[in-house]
Amino acid sequence: MEIFRTIAEYRDWRKALPSGRSVGFVPTMGALHAGHMRLASESRSADSDTVVSIFVNPLQFGPSEDFSRYPRPFEADAKLCSEAGVAAILAPEAADFYPADFSTYVEVAGLDKYLCGASRPGHFRGVTTVVLKLFHIVQPHRAWFGQKDIQQALILKKMVRDMSLDLDLRIVPTVREDSGLALSSRNVYLNPDEKTRATALSKALFTAKSAWEKGERSAAALTNGMRREIEASSPTRIDYIEAVSQASLAPIDTLDGPAVLALAVFYGKTRLIDNVLLG
Ligand code: PAJ
Repeated sequence: MEIFRTIAEYRDWRKALPSGRSVGFVPTMGALHAGHMRLASESRSADSDTVVSIFVNPLQFGPSEDFSRYPRPFEADAKLCSEAGVAAILAPEAADFYPADFSTYVEVAGLDKYLCGASRPGHFRGVTTVVLKLFHIVQPHRAWFGQKDIQQALILKKMVRDMSLDLDLRIVPTVREDSGLALSSRNVYLNPDEKTRATALSKALFTAKSAWEKGERSAAALTNGMRREIEASSPTRIDYIEAVSQASLAPIDTLDGPAVLALAVFYGKTRLIDNVLLG
């Protein structure tokens, strides 16, 4: 497995790849877990060479967020990638990636107004900017993203379409612990008690999903039920619990087309997100 610390070194490797090979790309911020590795294994089965990027992107963190304490266990990450048959890791230094006078941004207007976009101003602009730049560097045929961050995946899908990028963006279902808790690099911040309480999130989503399967179409009925179940787990703060349209991510009153139930909830200082797709 190759490990590239500079864009230039990666580009030399990419240019030397035989043209018949297909490159699959899994962008990450590291602290890799089985969710990330599921993306890598999907990519391995579809693409001849899988590239994983590991880069904690300063552009997508707000001033009071966890950029400096975000976990960076590079050796363990590299071992997981090597065991998973990843061809190359791209782990650029921030100084190489963003020149000091960097000032070009890409923004997908509209979809970033809702859900996490409403409570994390500038977050998705940071994500789309870094991912577009990574796409230009990595030159993948396919790129793999998790449903866990559904708003991110849908915004990036729109960016690919709007910008006519020549790649296929795939969304992979959320990988969960046996308890139902969605795997996340931020789960390491939770103490054992918070981790147990946080299982209320997936339970509430699954309860709402089965109510929807039985015919409930009222967004208020579904989200109120979820709120009650989550409040019983004494969260520190509920950021949002919403039913939105899969196409626009705008809130809906009646679930008469493809929808997403999505939530963001704090336990202690840790903000967790999760979602289920309906239809
Ligand atoms: P990160 O949080 O490291 O996630 C990298 C990818 O792994 C994302 O596509 C995310 O949706 C996926 N992922 C995370 N947890 C998952 C789970 N439990 N099941 C399935 N997939 C999961 O998302 C980012 O990094 C960044 O915003 C990035 C796209 C790399 C841009 O900086």
